[in-house]
Amino acid sequence: MRQPWVGGNWKMNGLRESNAALLGALKGAEQLAGVDVAIAVPAPYWQQASEAMNDCAINVMAQTISPHASGAYTGDCSVAMMQDFKLSGALVGHSERRQGAGESDALVAAQFAALRGAGLSAVLCVGETLAEREAGETLAVVSRQLVAVLEQYGAEALATGVLAYEPVWAIGTGLTATPEQAQAVHASLRAVVAAFDINAANALRIVYGGSVKADNAAGLFSMPDIDGALVGGASLSASEFLAICQAA
Ligand code: G3H
Repeated sequence: MRQPWVGGNWKMNGLRESNAALLGALKGAEQLAGVDVAIAVPAPYWQQASEAMNDCAINVMAQTISPHASGAYTGDCSVAMMQDFKLSGALVGHSERRQGAGESDALVAAQFAALRGAGLSAVLCVGETLAEREAGETLAVVSRQLVAVLEQYGAEALATGVLAYEPVWAIGTGLTATPEQAQAVHASLRAVVAAFDINAANALRIVYGGSVKADNAAGLFSMPDIDGALVGGASLSASEFLAICQAA
């Protein structure tokens, strides 16, 4: 039995005052039993979130991370910096980073390695664009993104973290994959991992991301291979996010 995982990806939202209100509301929540919960916050607010969640079960994560230990990488943040603020891990390969910041499969694998090398968890994000789905390339694309990490680091390393399937066409668009569409991809992703290691495949949490809200979460979570969610916009509302956690 896999414990569900729900992550809130704040993306580039929030300022100290609104963050304080959101963090306070999350911290006081009692709906979190039986589900692992994390929030991925912008780097300037790592300290604020980490201090606010210090004695609470919600983990604080980074939204991306440099594969390098230190040095001349203007604008980047390192794994050691994450550790300095007691972050638990980071998202890697989010489509907004792959597309907007040119992060390649190879870079994502290097980010994964940097996190795992430090004993931190990685939430590996994979997903296809609308054009790729319409061309029938969904499974080829997500498998390629997954195998880029699996081949180098193995299924066991992956299973210590979370795999997030996020169809690009469903992110921030209000278009959610149907539970059946998402389940089909999740089952295929699990089969890819199983070809490497069946036990790791069974243990791996595969979560769905793309316009998840309180009113569609339960349908998604009812699917056998959907083990939670990576939530963007709806994670900026404590009541909405907590309702999703409760549905998991
Ligand atoms: O990381 C989260 C995903 O990009 C989903 O974002 O819930 O706003 O569609 P969204």
